[in-house]
Amino acid sequence: MRKCALALLSLLAFAHTAICQDYKGLKDYYRDYFPAGVSVAPQSVAPGDEAVLIRKNFASLTAENVMKPQPIHPEENRYNWEPADQIVNFAQANGLKMRGHTLCWHNQTPKWFFEDKDGNPVSRELLLQRLRDHIYAVVGRYKGKVYAWDVVNEAISEQPDQMYRPTKWYQVLGEEYIAKAFEYAHEADPDALLFYNDFDTEKPAKRDHIYSMLKGLLNKGVPIHGVGLQGHWSIYDNLTAAGLEESITRFASLGLTVQITELDISIYPKDWNRKERRASDTTSFTPEKEQLQIDKYKMIFNVLRKHKDKVSGVTFWNISDRKSWLDTFPIKGRKDYPLLFDEALRPKKAFWEVVDFEK
Ligand code: GLA
Repeated sequence: MRKCALALLSLLAFAHTAICQDYKGLKDYYRDYFPAGVSVAPQSVAPGDEAVLIRKNFASLTAENVMKPQPIHPEENRYNWEPADQIVNFAQANGLKMRGHTLCWHNQTPKWFFEDKDGNPVSRELLLQRLRDHIYAVVGRYKGKVYAWDVVNEAISEQPDQMYRPTKWYQVLGEEYIAKAFEYAHEADPDALLFYNDFDTEKPAKRDHIYSMLKGLLNKGVPIHGVGLQGHWSIYDNLTAAGLEESITRFASLGLTVQITELDISIYPKDWNRKERRASDTTSFTPEKEQLQIDKYKMIFNVLRKHKDKVSGVTFWNISDRKSWLDTFPIKGRKDYPLLFDEALRPKKAFWEVVDFEK
């Protein structure tokens, strides 16, 4: 009986691997366009079906969480390298590019950055020194292994009438913290490509604010090479081909390269505020929703291929619908289906539409 069960299990595992292998991977379809990437946790690069899927489909990795300030630098004198090392080692062993994410952000950054040893608000000098030490340590460790860094994440306000997000970084250092972060990163690894990364980059006011901030930084000679459009979109938002093209071409007109750094298309209306789950929050991925998602993915990839001279990478935020950050955000426990692979790691219809251009 036990033997039988084992035989059945290995047969299933074999079939599963076969499913993962009998098609051409996303990265191969896009070889002449840009590297197709994905954000991962260390567990996903351990031996298993996700690692098989990654190797087959992706040419680039981003650490979903473990390189962020909180996980990698939880205390002033302690760095937690092991989880990030696992991902970087997997990238190296499999010849994948590696993006670093992220050096300076208002979220997932430990409190100690902003307090002195007596618990008082940090001084300007001390905060700059900490920013520099943090960036030197993290960028320095992965020098030559991480080819591009998201240096500053989400510095621009979501409010149309406000330029900078009023974060602790901004409160203590003013807008100068942005230039400083790029300068420190460049000093730590002069060969790395340095990105400014943000969401809602197609909303006109935010696009204008990002553009003018970048222009100002470049005029001052700040070492910045690219813009990351996060790409957390929804089947219901009003993202259009023209709007996306406008963002790509405007940012590229500054001489910057553009990447989509965190692509997913939620099957729910976009909402950036956490909410309690209500009985009316349904989770079904209906054929209608699936069609809207297919249409949106198709439109986005048409635009990206058209602008392949300006677009140097497209990274999905998570691997498959088996598990995504959107299963817990903004509503905990509400299942989402935002990616190109289903819960069994099989390519979805949207995958086939996105690679259909070759035929
Ligand atoms: C932002 C960050 C990412 C990630 C997502 C949500 O886009 O840049 O690192 O935290 O939010 O998971």
